[in-house]
Amino acid sequence: MAPKRWFTLLRNVTTAVAAVAAAASFATPAIAAQPPSTDVVGGTRAAQGEFPFMVRLSMGCGGALYTNQIVLTAAHCVSRTGSNTSITATVGVVDLQSTSAKKIKSTYVYQSPTYGTSTGGDWALIKLASPVTGLSTLPIATTTTYNTGTFTVAGWGAATEGGAQQRYLLKATVPFVSDSTCQAQGGSYPDLIPSAEICAGNLSAGGVDTCQGDSGGPMFRRDNNSAWIQVGIVSWGDGCARPHAPGVYTEVSTFASKIAAAAASL
Ligand code: ARG
Repeated sequence: MAPKRWFTLLRNVTTAVAAVAAAASFATPAIAAQPPSTDVVGGTRAAQGEFPFMVRLSMGCGGALYTNQIVLTAAHCVSRTGSNTSITATVGVVDLQSTSAKKIKSTYVYQSPTYGTSTGGDWALIKLASPVTGLSTLPIATTTTYNTGTFTVAGWGAATEGGAQQRYLLKATVPFVSDSTCQAQGGSYPDLIPSAEICAGNLSAGGVDTCQGDSGGPMFRRDNNSAWIQVGIVSWGDGCARPHAPGVYTEVSTFASKIAAAAASL
């Protein structure tokens, strides 16, 4: 199994993450000398209501409200397409322990059929048992227009590589990294699928990144009308926030029409 897939398959199994991260450091000379960064890594607390579309999923992933009853997440956060009543989505709060958290069960999962193929496509949809009210959705990019600039990421995943899941939603901003630069970073990065994946991170300094447990959550920015638009889905990286190891995100614009068609069928 390629190192990339080890990371991709991990969610909030923090002890396994630590073990795999340590193993990857030894197995990957290009990054062995880079210490894991401390301190979504390098983030700050999001305000209540700042990102109303953010979803926490009970298997230890993030997501975003695509409609008021459908969550867009990562394919690697789910196991298959079909009926599924085992997932709980928590919405409407930055504090997962808040008594005002809304918790809604899933009814069905749709996993991208191209995930794991050479085409890529780390995305999935989760249908909720009932629509959520009073929260806004996050529109997805349907063209490559916004696949550049500075992106916002948010999640309840680890705040340090190998660290614990978070009670409060963290946010950070990360700059776009081109496919060619991303692929040139060694480690797992030559495996990048340029048409299906988009990279972001502080290339030489590291320090800011998504991490285990943020998977499935959105990477987004402002569109030309100053509205949030989703350009990525947290997918994988070599460790978290390491220099020369950007975060890799599903390139949402590539799959926008497939996502829309699948959502319409749920
Ligand atoms: N695969 C991880 C998860 O399941 C996300 C890893 C993101 N890593 C990164 N360095 N940006 O939560």
